[in-house]
Amino acid sequence: MYKGKSFQGEKHNFATFYVMLIAINHITFEFGAHAIFKDASWHIMPNERIGLIGINGAGKSTLLRIINQEYSVSEGTVERAGDVSVGFFNQDLLSFESDDSILHVAMTAFEKALALEKELETITQKLSHSQDEKILMQYSDKLHEYEALDGYNIQHRTEALLEGLGFSTADLQRPYNEFSGGWRMRVLLARMMLQQPEVLMLDEPTNHLDLPSIEWLERYLQRYQGTVIITSHDRYFLDRMVTKIVEVYQQQLIPYSGNYSFYQQEKALRTEQQQRAYENQQEYIRQQERFIERFRAKATKAAQAQSAMKRLERLDRIEEVDSGPNKIRIRFNIGITPGKILCTLLDIHKQFGEHIILDHAKAEINRGDKIALIGANGKGKSTLLRVIAGTEKFQGKRIPGHNVETSFYAQHQLEALNLNNDLVTELQHCGSSYTEQELRTLLGCFLFSGDDVFKKIKVLSGGEKARVALAKTIISKANFLLLDEPTNHLDINSVEMLIDALNQYEGSYVLVSHDRYFVSKTANKIWEIGDHQIKEFVGTYEEWEEWKKRNTSNNIAAKSAGLSPENKKEKERTPVSDTVNDKKIANGKNKAINKEAQRAWEKQKKRFEQLESSLNKLKEEKSRLEAALAHPDTYANKEKFLTTEKEYQQITQKLNLANADYESAFEKMMQMETEITA
Ligand SMILES: Nc1ncnc2c1ncn2[C@@H]1O[C@H](COP(=O)(O)OP(=O)(O)OP(=O)(O)O)[C@@H](O)[C@H]1O
Ligand SMILES: [Mg+2]
Repeated sequence: MYKGKSFQGEKHNFATFYVMLIAINHITFEFGAHAIFKDASWHIMPNERIGLIGINGAGKSTLLRIINQEYSVSEGTVERAGDVSVGFFNQDLLSFESDDSILHVAMTAFEKALALEKELETITQKLSHSQDEKILMQYSDKLHEYEALDGYNIQHRTEALLEGLGFSTADLQRPYNEFSGGWRMRVLLARMMLQQPEVLMLDEPTNHLDLPSIEWLERYLQRYQGTVIITSHDRYFLDRMVTKIVEVYQQQLIPYSGNYSFYQQEKALRTEQQQRAYENQQEYIRQQERFIERFRAKATKAAQAQSAMKRLERLDRIEEVDSGPNKIRIRFNIGITPGKILCTLLDIHKQFGEHIILDHAKAEINRGDKIALIGANGKGKSTLLRVIAGTEKFQGKRIPGHNVETSFYAQHQLEALNLNNDLVTELQHCGSSYTEQELRTLLGCFLFSGDDVFKKIKVLSGGEKARVALAKTIISKANFLLLDEPTNHLDINSVEMLIDALNQYEGSYVLVSHDRYFVSKTANKIWEIGDHQIKEFVGTYEEWEEWKKRNTSNNIAAKSAGLSPENKKEKERTPVSDTVNDKKIANGKNKAINKEAQRAWEKQKKRFEQLESSLNKLKEEKSRLEAALAHPDTYANKEKFLTTEKEYQQITQKLNLANADYESAFEKMMQMETEITA
């Protein structure tokens, strides 16, 4: 029952748009001098599936905190309709601790029902002693309330949800603190979902989840009765999950009425449009400046020059398109060159309980190897990485090579950052011998520019933290890197940056990744765990895929590699209901849709430009004649002098006429422009 489509730029009114849940109106928000939002607006409607996207550090998490009333804006308003309930799932929740069972922790979602349950127990006890009418009434009331809250089903619902998230029935009674980060996250996610807020906000929920859990989450969220806002850098997930994208871009909130694939196409179009609009505006500004320059000193035209100046000041400037980061040009050298063989694994056996990961497996890592370890979740990729690093117990033999210096990157590296350090100090603590200046240049490669290097780790966004931890790993001078899911948290630019950095890295590495694009750009060998063995393919990911296709009659094997599946589904597209947030793009000019007026204006503009160019030619000619008249040769020859003098007078006359035409053309153009924008 939607009423209203796009509210961008429109004056809102809750009485009219009564179905709106949250209205963000013209907000401005800054961290010190760093503006995150400037005059940004967005209206959140019921039952929307929204993907909130933007580059690392754009302000997605900040926006969710603003909506959650943790931050207040310096300008504009954030209004909620009535008592709309908002649930916010973020990574901070991971610091939650409890010795209670996970079932209990998840059930705290039903605070009210649980409190009623306790009250009912007390009343029952009282009733066993007396049959007071009043107490009986109270019991009946409370029971009613409890039933209305579906109290009898809460345990069952919680159990079903937890089991859906991958917990076994036996797990449900185990204490929360016994579980690892990823599993704790599932419990907290379950708790939030059971509360069923009208607006459910999830900040990068897929980062800690494996593929089956992501699939489960997708199914759950698709059926969720309420609005869901998700930030994620996982485009496959977004493609399947959302029907609307809101991008944090250049301090604005830009809506797109479709899923991620739709956004990509639209974005390409808008980027082109913005670049064109930017170039046109720059040309217009130059033109106006020339006019002002010329007439500023002229008494009769000073007023017009003044108003042209005012117009320029008032002009809503279009920003140039962000062209993304530059290529990294620094080579990341290593401290010492290791021996030819970095690590040999022989007769490795590893199992967790009944679950066998490796059985009599062997492998060898050579200098120069850039190995991508791929395979389905639960096959033991991270375990194998830890076996190679020597931090995981196993049966068999692991022979490290000579002079091998290993650096390990995994999710927990983010948590190991010292929150109170600034970026440079943090990088100084990783065993590298770079000077402060060199470290700043390096931070530039990792997309931290200008004042960013003075930031403290604690204020960094998720992706920014990941970039610092990755920078530390790569510049540590280690000659052998082990990278577990290094693209988690990273936006597209940062992934490109990481690919670049790894291509410039002189050492060897083994990485685990589900990101097919990333693997195809970084690996020269593919390892896959299958039949409890390490299967090696020498070549790139594309070559491996080709080889797989050729060698298997069907693609079952390819699927078991567990990489994000191609989104074969017809691209979901809803009709474009939102107009481009083209306030900036159109420079306020196309508020009026009158195409005819626009065309007339363009025609006039063209005429003005022609006049300007002939005026310039006349001026050049006049200067040439002035120079000639001032030349002694011209004076010496009377005839020559007279013709030049005549020419000079003609030109001056023409120039006066041209000037008048030019000015009136300019005025007319301005007049038309005012009419269009009125
Ligand atoms: N308390 C703070 N003080 C100063 N700057 C901050 C603070 N909190 C965040 N920032 C900065 O504001 C910017 C926006 O951060 P935010 O966490 O909202 O980004 P994000 O879009 O969620 O990025 P990511 O995709 O990496 O999660 C970042 O550059 C961050 O360093
Ligand atoms: Mg974030």
